[in-house]
Amino acid sequence: MNVQKLSNMKAKSQKISAITAYDYSFAKIADDAEIDVILVGDSGAMVMFGYETTSPATMEEMLLMSKAVSRGSKKSLLVGDMPFMSYHTSIEDAIRNAGRFIKEGGMQAVKIEGNRTVAKTISAITKAGIPVMGHIGLQPQMAKSWDGYRVHGTNYLSAKQLIEDAHELEQAGAFCIVLEMITEEVSKIISESIRIPTIGIGSGRYCDGQILVLHDLLNLNDSLHPKFVKQYADLKKQSQKALTNYKDDISSNNFPTSAHSWSLEPSELKKLQKYFGLIKKNKL
Ligand code: KIV
Repeated sequence: MNVQKLSNMKAKSQKISAITAYDYSFAKIADDAEIDVILVGDSGAMVMFGYETTSPATMEEMLLMSKAVSRGSKKSLLVGDMPFMSYHTSIEDAIRNAGRFIKEGGMQAVKIEGNRTVAKTISAITKAGIPVMGHIGLQPQMAKSWDGYRVHGTNYLSAKQLIEDAHELEQAGAFCIVLEMITEEVSKIISESIRIPTIGIGSGRYCDGQILVLHDLLNLNDSLHPKFVKQYADLKKQSQKALTNYKDDISSNNFPTSAHSWSLEPSELKKLQKYFGLIKKNKL
């Protein structure tokens, strides 16, 4: 997958599938499932590192996860999520950090959160040769500080601003835009009025593609249950059951069995038993 193929998918009205991943094993699973886009999201700060929000994520943490994901994926388009303050201090910092995702992290593109205020940054990173995915609507990196985790585009003014933002990001050179928690009608207008694909998360049916946080979809993290998540498996329940069974098997001597062990050759065993007998009798 690459940026051009993603654009062709929109042109052919083929829906784009995207998922987050943060490690080698799940990246391989997503790649085998032929998911079009794998985002190494800064949501990894929460689900992998246990932070309360995404804002503490550092470049080093994001690069560590990116490297692991890039080793696991061969086909999907790999996008690295630029962490809070890695693209805000200056255009130079933004280009340098975006470059690290490509050179060190093995990513093919980067994502940055922000409305029209980041258009210049998107333009500069794109001109440096790195494709940029925009992200408007709910912007988790700063949501807690500003206006909380709420739906966007619920009135005329906010809808108009979002539509204008999407157009500005397209103009700036973004190859795709994530629409997070935007009302369905506004997402539809955005998706129909820009040429680049939109990838929705909690933004309804009319986006050109959809993305979910892997741990939400698999219920590996049951502390949050956003309305927009469809749970496709309950790996938390299954994992807990598996580990309880494992502990019980150890306690009751049901694990390991001979099937999980190796044996000495019978003739060698005989010699060893004889030797051990002598040790026990203190005759050595
Ligand atoms: O970090 C993340 O997982 C994201 C997705 C929610 C789009 O930005």
